[in-house]
Amino acid sequence: MIEKIPPPEFGAVTAPAHPSEAARRLLALRRSLSPDLMQAPGPDAQTLDQILEIAARVPDHRKIVPFRFLVFEGEGRARAGDMLAARFAAANPEAPPNMVEIERRRFLRAPAVVAVIARIDHQHKTPAWEQELTNGAVCLNMLLAASAYGFAGCWLTEWYSYDEAFAADLGLTQGERAAGFVYLGSAREPPRERQRPALADIVRRF
Ligand SMILES: Cc1cc2nc3c(=O)[nH]c(=O)nc-3n(C[C@H](O)[C@H](O)[C@H](O)COP(=O)(O)O)c2cc1C
Repeated sequence: MIEKIPPPEFGAVTAPAHPSEAARRLLALRRSLSPDLMQAPGPDAQTLDQILEIAARVPDHRKIVPFRFLVFEGEGRARAGDMLAARFAAANPEAPPNMVEIERRRFLRAPAVVAVIARIDHQHKTPAWEQELTNGAVCLNMLLAASAYGFAGCWLTEWYSYDEAFAADLGLTQGERAAGFVYLGSAREPPRERQRPALADIVRRF
């Protein structure tokens, strides 16, 4: 068990920065890993709680917490897969059985999957766009935290993030939607670096 770094008490004086070569290394080298290349172990319950606590520690305009988590572990992954397969089969009656089986096994690709559920308040003074940005920050922060705890991660939406019937199966309420399903686990194979934008193509200075 990695010892938890306790979050500061409300109102406590906190460090304005945390210079760290290890943190720079993580940020400079972090890479997603396809769930197809993941294997056990995943984070244990206490470690996952720590990862989620860090993931939730994001900029959030007016502190409205426009997100929540759905955790799929153990048998819960198979139950969600059964629901997904049923939805897929209903929507695609011509689909061959092997394609339905792919859906049934989707959440079994990794030892743990966390759905970040965006609960956007469209009536709130904070624009929906900003609430959505906070959800993106949560997903990335989860990948960073997982990496710091020694786990690979991957942020996916795939088709089921946009399927309203499956969202209802998962208990999402009206207006809620998945910002992503973050797959977490150990690496069966290491990832290879992907293409990155050249700074010259994306930076203009005023
Ligand atoms: C919101 C969002 C949704 C994504 N959904 C998918 C997806 O459904 N399927 C996929 O192959 N990659 C998807 N990706 C991309 C993977 O996360 C990708 O492997 C990752 O961006 C690789 O970059 P990295 O190594 O810098 O993390 C998505 C990325 C984002 C930000």
